[in-house]
Amino acid sequence: MSKVTVVGAGNVGATVANVLAHKDIVREVVLLDIKGDLAKGKALDSWQQAPIDYYSTRLTGSDDYKDTAGSDIVVITAGIPRKPGMSRDDLIGINAGIVSSVTKSILKHSKNPIIILVSNPLDVMTYAAHSISKLPATRVFGMAGILDTARYRAFLATALDVSPKDIQAVLMGGHGDTMVPLPRYTTVAGIPVTEMITSKKLKAIVDRTKKGGGELVKLMGTSAWYAPGAAAAQMVASIVRDERRIFPCCIKLNGQYGIRNTYLGVPVVLGKNGIEKVIKLDLNKSEIKLLKNSASHVKAVMKVYDKMKTKKK
Ligand code: LAC
Repeated sequence: MSKVTVVGAGNVGATVANVLAHKDIVREVVLLDIKGDLAKGKALDSWQQAPIDYYSTRLTGSDDYKDTAGSDIVVITAGIPRKPGMSRDDLIGINAGIVSSVTKSILKHSKNPIIILVSNPLDVMTYAAHSISKLPATRVFGMAGILDTARYRAFLATALDVSPKDIQAVLMGGHGDTMVPLPRYTTVAGIPVTEMITSKKLKAIVDRTKKGGGELVKLMGTSAWYAPGAAAAQMVASIVRDERRIFPCCIKLNGQYGIRNTYLGVPVVLGKNGIEKVIKLDLNKSEIKLLKNSASHVKAVMKVYDKMKTKKK
């Protein structure tokens, strides 16, 4: 695997390209944006960092899809970000059109890429790109779970005053306030987190995690980019190196957890073919209930997208 395209040279896209280059695991990264000069500028700036930070990954910027030809992996970050007071779902009107046309343009020049969605509303943009692409569901999926889990792990690291490296966790569901953190599956260097923190404090952390994206939008006036960009780059790395790491990713569920035809975050094994395996956790009744609630929320937004499509016809 040698070529990765990142669509959208905004803060998130540029961070994906830059973090990926630092990993020095792919030959080429193309940063594509309709604002061509912005993509060229950010790619050139990142390339000029290569002699300092010691990587060989070639970075180029472009506004021409021809330059994406033969991409093995495409990360789609294009679209508008949230402003204070907006939910991710509010972005669907504009971002569905952008993600649809990006997916079509990409497939004109790359036959069988793996596509990772980052644009919001994430779960429904994964649905849009997957249905338009007609690629297998194992090759079109979304980044949200790594980010949400990272926020949860970072908050726990602060609360316990330990390294975030030692906090392992899994989180499921949609990328929104209905996400399903699973404290039962959270460990600190192998120790169940429930032995390290009171349930009241843990609950506060879970609540903060659910609104983690919104907290940053409030602080910055736009949505986050460092952790989202690094999270997408980590997914690319697991695929390129065929690491088979386990990450929560947004995928099309086809009966797993009793949920069908819905795009939702679940733990998967990520390798050279994309989703190599969906992990089935033995969830208890209340966890399943939360997951189903999250699924019905995503389903409602999927319906909004379906209606937009029929209107257009
Ligand atoms: C967030 C946006 C990127 O959660 O969805 O920060």
